[in-house]
Amino acid sequence: MRVVELKIEDIAFGGKGVGREQGKAIFVPYTIEGELVSAGIVREKKQFAEAELVEVKESSPHRVTPECPYFAQCGGCAYQHIGYEHQLAIKWRQVRNVLQRIGKLKDIPLRPIIPSPKQYGYRNRITVHAQDGVIGFFRRDSHHLIDIERCPISCDEVNRELRDLRGRNPRDGHYTLRTSSSRRVFSQTNDEVADALRRLIADLVPPDQDLLVDAYCGAGFFAKALLNKFERVVGIDWDKFAITDAKEDATEKEIYITGQVEEELRRVGAVHLGRGPVDEIHLGRLRSIAPTTIIVDPPAIGLSAKVRDAILDLLPTTLIYVSCNPATLARDLKELHEKFTIDSITPLDMFPQTAEIEIAAHLQAMPSAS
Ligand SMILES: C[S@@+](CC[C@H](N)C(=O)[O-])C[C@H]1O[C@@H](n2cnc3c(N)ncnc32)[C@H](O)[C@@H]1O
Repeated sequence: MRVVELKIEDIAFGGKGVGREQGKAIFVPYTIEGELVSAGIVREKKQFAEAELVEVKESSPHRVTPECPYFAQCGGCAYQHIGYEHQLAIKWRQVRNVLQRIGKLKDIPLRPIIPSPKQYGYRNRITVHAQDGVIGFFRRDSHHLIDIERCPISCDEVNRELRDLRGRNPRDGHYTLRTSSSRRVFSQTNDEVADALRRLIADLVPPDQDLLVDAYCGAGFFAKALLNKFERVVGIDWDKFAITDAKEDATEKEIYITGQVEEELRRVGAVHLGRGPVDEIHLGRLRSIAPTTIIVDPPAIGLSAKVRDAILDLLPTTLIYVSCNPATLARDLKELHEKFTIDSITPLDMFPQTAEIEIAAHLQAMPSAS
């Protein structure tokens, strides 16, 4: 293994430090910008190389001792060696950079990042894997399991579930362990930051509106919190179990549709714009109502071209885009920006100690765009 000495210049997306050798980027995990390190090259490509940290020669003042004994083996956390305030600064900077680089956005109305009240013990669910008596998470960059007795970023209840599972000598497979309050379908992972996200969105959405479309609604996490601001809400998700949950306590105002956002958003739009046949009773109820607000909370791949086009056609007054991937958010904003102004972008730290970033963007239709 060739060992090189590097000055770490930045932290890339995903959490690895970046140093340079004759201009070529070398990615080194578990480092911090400003540090002088020696690193062993493990993969060399034409444009960049991957290395493993051998020694920190000059340490950053932001370096702290990780709480987890599996840190640097387990693939889950990339930032436990960095003080929490600095983790927040890195994430904020990464969001700004990616919006500039991919989104080509200037004068970004980027708000301060909302921190997590809990820096450890916040996860309300984890998925562990069992194989040949080993129960835990995958090793970083591999399919090898490491045996995990306790996960410090998970809450006590989840760790009790893990202890119980281990006591049962489970068969090989995947096991999702969760708190009793967490739903079986998709739910936000950090309760306190999820509440902060919901409050933020409630503040951004104006009162006395007609129709909210909550696309990728899950069990109606946002829709249900905004009921008092709308005449009607429509939630769309392709997970029928999530939609069943959403319908369970639904009021007269709420309509939940099991289906692909790609298709259903167009249909809501077709009815609203008076272009298509009203072939479903539930959509019939929307005939005279225009979607004034759309919330999208897609998975990491972001919005498909079809969904972006539908939004540009529908042109709601308010568009809230919740993203767990700054790169796809930036790509989508670049296009949506043609007809929407970006009012604010707020990063939230839903996943302390990891490189993950959650973001809420608030857009408004340009008056001239309709
Ligand atoms: C990030 S989760 C958001 C869930 C919800 N907003 C919440 O906060 O609990 C994304 C959701 O989108 C759904 N989903 C992903 N792709 C979809 C698609 N193309 N059409 C419909 N639903 C989709 C998933 O089932 C999942 O519930």
